[in-house]
Amino acid sequence: MRPKRIIEIMREQATGTEVTVKGWVRTRRDSKQVSFVALNDGSMVANLQIVVNPSLIDEQTLRRITTGACIAATGTLVASQGKGQSVEVQADKIEILGDADASFPLQKKGHTWEYLREVAHLRPRSNTFGAIFRIRNNMAFAIHKFFHDKGFVYFHTPLITGSDCEGAGQMFQVTTLDLNNLPRTEDGKIDYSQDFFGGQTSLTVSGQLEGELAATALGAIYTFGPTFRAENSNTPRHLAEFWMIEPEMAFYDIKDNMDLAEEFIKYCVQWALDNCMDDLEFLNKMIDPELIERLKFVTTHDFVRLPYTEGIKILEEAVAKGHKFEFPVFWGADLASEHERFLVEEHFKKPVILTDYPKEIKAFYMKQNDDGKTVRAMDVLFPRIGEIIGGSEREADYDKLLKRIEELNIPMKDMWWYLDTRKYGSCPHSGFGLGFERLILFVTGMANIRDVIPFPRTPGHAEF
Ligand code: 4AD
Ligand code: MG
Repeated sequence: MRPKRIIEIMREQATGTEVTVKGWVRTRRDSKQVSFVALNDGSMVANLQIVVNPSLIDEQTLRRITTGACIAATGTLVASQGKGQSVEVQADKIEILGDADASFPLQKKGHTWEYLREVAHLRPRSNTFGAIFRIRNNMAFAIHKFFHDKGFVYFHTPLITGSDCEGAGQMFQVTTLDLNNLPRTEDGKIDYSQDFFGGQTSLTVSGQLEGELAATALGAIYTFGPTFRAENSNTPRHLAEFWMIEPEMAFYDIKDNMDLAEEFIKYCVQWALDNCMDDLEFLNKMIDPELIERLKFVTTHDFVRLPYTEGIKILEEAVAKGHKFEFPVFWGADLASEHERFLVEEHFKKPVILTDYPKEIKAFYMKQNDDGKTVRAMDVLFPRIGEIIGGSEREADYDKLLKRIEELNIPMKDMWWYLDTRKYGSCPHSGFGLGFERLILFVTGMANIRDVIPFPRTPGHAEF
């Protein structure tokens, strides 16, 4: 008989029937007559209580029911007398499927997040990480559903790339050359023509440029995949490998783009409220008592829309009134997370979409405004997170785009295929990128991005 998952048992509440459940022992508590085993199978945050009567189970088996062990329990499902659970299993048979060595690292409650990262291979077996990874799964599903329902095409862009779309110096190189014996050209440079792809390649930092090719053919597309950035930022919001969702739409201007971004995030947060309440309630209790309130707030309030220049004015006024920022505030400055969070958390107390940034601090492909100084960028700034989405309307004019590429010394040999979108049937179009882990940070209330991806990659860390 297929064992029932605990979530089914809790849903059906079929007391009086015989059930078999399989899972991992979270805790065991012994009283004089019986032992109480909290069993979890990952299907939900709640444990199922297994009541073990020592007179029915042999002593050898009893001893092996320890924290971390995998067991199958068979018995009658009964209404529970105890607090905290509606039903429990009166076991008449226990089978040990896998013993847990006494060194099992998740014995106690109250391990630090740092310690749990050291045992990232086992931390999904804790209640908190179980909740986080179930929510992460739900968010991935919600994202596909949102775009699928709107008729967007899920488009797969390459992970290995020969171009550096967003700017220099942040890419992980991909090579099969022998690093101890590199082939050289006559002038002493590394001869990449002998490398696997016949040229220098890297892991992608974004699928956007290929996404634009697709949008100018299929109309509206999105990508959802891993991206890689070798920036050495040891912050609670940066990973070297993170997942990004990048919709790209023909015939959308920046306003349509903002509307879509706002609708999209609200949809995802509402999805969590509608489908992950057990896990959210757990996190609300254990991690952040304002979590659910914050999620509801975001789904029910309009995001502020504000030009960068206005944002700088607000920050300058705050500085004049004595507010201290670590990084300087001036027109032209790239905003740090402290500035973004000031606008969102202290000034507006709402999510903010900041637009029309100085062109110097944004990528070459953004549509240039008539003022000659700013571009049609839009960043969505969120409480506790700062930037959660970055996007823009794209420059559709071939000549303007080419001029910008030349100004920035971006190698044209990498860009010919991208420029072809503007050469053959160019159209106004827009898109944005949502950092998946930043969304999960927001939805779970966790404080560090390393704790919302199963196996985080950060400077100095690529274990597991
Ligand atoms: O603002 P970014 O760099 O934009 C792009 O990559 C564009 N190509 C997107 C587009 O228009 N299609 O990155 C987009 C988002 C950020 O807002 C942030 O949420 C997330 O990706 N992000 C990171 N998340 C985790 N770790 C990092 N190192 C991240 N860098 C960016
Ligand atoms: Mg950005």
